[in-house]
Order: sequence, then structure tokens, then C-alpha cells
Amino acid sequence: MKSRLILAGVAALASAVAMVTVVTATTAAAATVRYEAEAAVCTGTIDSNWPGFSGSGFCNGTNAVGAYAQFTVTTAAAGTATVGIRYANGTTVGRPADVLVNGVTRASAVAFDGTGSWSTWATRTVTFPVDAGSNTIRLNPTTANGLANIDYLDVTTDSAPSPSPCAPPSASPTAGQPKVTVWLAGDSTMADPSGGVCPVGWGNQFAQYFTANATVRNSAVGGRSIQTWLYDPNVTSTMDSSGECVISPVTYSSRWQAMLDATNGLKAGDYLLIQFGINDSTSTCPRHVGSARYQQLLGVMAAAVKARGAHPIFLTPVAAITCSGSTAVGNRGFLTETNNAASANGVPVIDLHRLSYTLYNTLGFCPNNGDYSAGPVGAFFCNDHTHFEAAGARQIAGVVAKALRDQQIPLAAYLR
Ligand code: GCU
Ligand code: CA
Repeated sequence: MKSRLILAGVAALASAVAMVTVVTATTAAAATVRYEAEAAVCTGTIDSNWPGFSGSGFCNGTNAVGAYAQFTVTTAAAGTATVGIRYANGTTVGRPADVLVNGVTRASAVAFDGTGSWSTWATRTVTFPVDAGSNTIRLNPTTANGLANIDYLDVTTDSAPSPSPCAPPSASPTAGQPKVTVWLAGDSTMADPSGGVCPVGWGNQFAQYFTANATVRNSAVGGRSIQTWLYDPNVTSTMDSSGECVISPVTYSSRWQAMLDATNGLKAGDYLLIQFGINDSTSTCPRHVGSARYQQLLGVMAAAVKARGAHPIFLTPVAAITCSGSTAVGNRGFLTETNNAASANGVPVIDLHRLSYTLYNTLGFCPNNGDYSAGPVGAFFCNDHTHFEAAGARQIAGVVAKALRDQQIPLAAYLR
């Protein structure tokens, strides 16, 4: 009962997390079907001038708000669809789009950030309920730049019923389930507090969402880039001619060695959640990490985790609070890099950047044109509007827990 009382104090979104049942055990075999843009309705032209697309072309939507691409997707039964949207955006400006399923907005302003060039394709994944039979999935651009170029949708459905939103939480550990450790690697937005009310990282508040079969081990450290986290104290203040920080000697940090330790480190079935990309954008060494290097290091971590039979999960960096008028907007980099590394290494990615500023909008954090002192922002963020107080950290942890369920990441079987 104690856990229910604690959860009762968490805001609506986090409470909803606790009210969803785990469906892993009953999920039927999933099937993925590709729907090419050339067979969809494209408000624009089907082009083939940028290589790397699948099929015979891609949808180059008219550059305008509402110039949509619409796919008709057929599913055998009602349930949940996980939809990978392949796209390219050769500009440096994001091209957000709403996702409407059968006319209902299921995801707002999904980010289709720059991919580096029009011939560099990336995949953005969204999850939503679908009906049995025919469903329309419309990508509706919300800015005057229109859609990114759209190549296809990969639609994965399971024929199991979607989780009931009203089923009671399973507060007790599932019998026979192996115990796992949920390891965390990240920066100050994830780290345990060092004392005082600020800052408290969301990793510090994560354990309350899990049953006793999962143990959270938070190895996030304030001020770290992915590279300094991996190589402390050996990343120097010297930048080499390629623009990367010199590491000398090239020896891993004790924290990463501890995770790799054969006896006490990651074991088969464990998880490692990795969230960097905030300190990495510093222009100077030792924190600076370039785009390619960031992707490379995510790949190194993923490979080491997988080699131990454990499961990496990447997260885009949690957003600070930035108001554009009355809307909270994103303010972090390394989004494309995280998604690219996820695709390249077959690792699930939780888009915590988008999920966090979406939460800030849900909570009404931008009431009057960027006056951060107004409204409920104060109890959520530290005075720097970047780090969290415990209440904010708890809600961000709840967002991550909900994403585990929504994205059907198997660790969700350990959620309360
Ligand atoms: C260029 C590019 C198109 C793209 C367009 C845009 O014209 O060749 O593929 O759709 O820019 O900005 O939308
Ligand atoms: Ca276009």
C-alpha cells in the first residue's frame, strides 16, 4: 500500500504509468509491413533525386503547413502499432509533424530534425493504437517548411489486445522472473544528488517505478560528456587537429570498468540506459565531443553491453525549460546522433528530449511568454531551469518508465 500512496502524489502522467498492465507475457508474434511513400497520398511530388530511398521514390511534400503524406495501413486486429517513419531532412531546421491516426492526433509535433543531407535517411518511431482493418496514418507538418522527405513507414503490429488503461498495477514481483540490474550512465540531469534540494537527477527517482526484481544502479555523474564519463580522468584539455579531445592514457574510467567487470558488473539480462549530449556540446576540451565521435562512443558502449548479454537503451538528452511564447520547446543537441547510433547498433531509443518538453507543455510550464517565475515551474526545476528538484526528477523518471511500456521494451515487464 505504501507504494500506492507515494504514486498518488505524482502528477497525472506519472500516475497513468502505474495504471497500465504489462502485456509482455501475452504479446503475440509481431509482424512488420512496409508501406512505401510512392503508394501513399503525397501532397507534393514523388521524387527520386536523392539516393538511399527504398522502392521507387519518396514523398517530397509541398513546403507548407498541412501538406501531408497519408498512408493506409491494414491490420488484422485492433492493438498497438509501432511505426518507424523513414525520412531525410537536408536542412538544419527541424520539420515537426503531427501524426493523425484515423483523424485523431496521436502524436504532436514529432521531431524530424536535420539528418545532415537529403540523402541521409533516419528513422523516427512512434507508437499508437490502431483499429482492426483499414487505418489512415497522416503525417501533417506543423510549420511552413512542410514535411521532411518521407521514404516509407515500417508498421509493426501485435495482435494481442492493447493494455487496459484501468487494470490495477502489479505491485508484487512476478514469480519466476529473473532479477535484473538497471544500470544508468549519464550526466547531472540523471545523477544522484550530492546534498541539498538541487540538483536531483531523474535516475535517483527511477527505482520507485520498478518491482523488487529490478535494482537500479545509478552511475550518472554531473558535468560529464559521454567521453569524460567513459575515460575520466584521462580526457585532456587539448584538442587535436580533427577537433576531438586528446585522451591520454587511453584507459577507461573506474566507473565504466566497474560495469564491465566480469564478476560484479553487467550480467546477462541487465539493462544499461545511456543519456548524454548536454555537456558534450561544450566547444572546449575536456568536455567537447564531435558528432561522429559521439555516435562512435554510443556504439562502443552498446557493443560492450551486448557482449555481456545485457541490453543497451539510448535516450536523447532531457530538455531544460525554454519557452517560445506559451509553448515549451526543445533545446538540446545530439538528437540525430543518438537516433543514428540507435539505428546503426540496433538499440532502442527513448526520445526523452521530446517527451520532456511535451510534459512541460502538458503541465503548463510556459504560461506567459517565458516568464519562468510564473506557474508551477519553480517546484519542478532548480533556479537554473535546467536541473530538477526531486519532484521534477520523479516525473521525468515516470516519463521514462512510461516510454518503456509504450515502446514495448522488455524491461517494462519489471515495472510496477
Ligand atoms: C530541396 C530538396 C527536396 C526537399 C526540399 C525541401 O528542394 O531537393 O527533396 O523536399 O528541398 O526543402 O523540402
Ligand atoms: Ca519538400
